[in-house]
Amino acid sequence: MITIVVGTNRKNSNSRVIAEIYQGILAAKGAKSQILDLVDLPADFTATALYENAGKNESFNKYLDIMSTCQKFVFIVAEYNGSFPGVLKSFIDGLKFPDSFLDKKCALVGISAGVQGGGLAVSHLTDIFNYCGMHVLALKPKLARIGANMVDNKITDKLYQELLETQAQQLIEF
Ligand SMILES: Cc1cc2nc3c(=O)[nH]c(=O)nc-3n(C[C@H](O)[C@H](O)[C@H](O)COP(=O)(O)O)c2cc1C
Repeated sequence: MITIVVGTNRKNSNSRVIAEIYQGILAAKGAKSQILDLVDLPADFTATALYENAGKNESFNKYLDIMSTCQKFVFIVAEYNGSFPGVLKSFIDGLKFPDSFLDKKCALVGISAGVQGGGLAVSHLTDIFNYCGMHVLALKPKLARIGANMVDNKITDKLYQELLETQAQQLIEF
């Protein structure tokens, strides 16, 4: 089972759309996946599930369990202010260390409204995951100008689609 993490809690995010496209790509390759969307986290989790409150928020605990038991992840990483969304860092800070990531594997997909495609965002996140002991797949597609390259929740850019399919295959074999 591969967990696809939507790395923002913004409603109706493009990250969510890409996660669903990615799930379709994995399914076509025979790989099972589930989507974990940060929009579903309890809205007050930074006040009720972190630090001295670790383990106390039942609705956050189910995400702790998913992240602790799953061995392979895809993170859809939106570019927010030149990096990845702060809520994703808060989520990571609320997970069990080091069990959540040690010796696990993941793939990262960057997306942005602008021209960078979340290049810095996936780079920053790679540093963090490597620190936590997780292996990050080298191929990290950066989907720039995402709004201009999607129509009706489908990717119109041929290269973007090919990059996701190649990455998904590599992740399955990783
Ligand atoms: C708080 C915030 C900061 C953002 N900062 C950037 C940015 O630095 N560069 C950029 O190209 N797009 C930026 N965007 C636009 C997102 O990249 C864009 O919304 C894209 O669709 C991916 O985010 P989404 O999954 O929330 O839709 C920002 C959006 C938000 C909500």
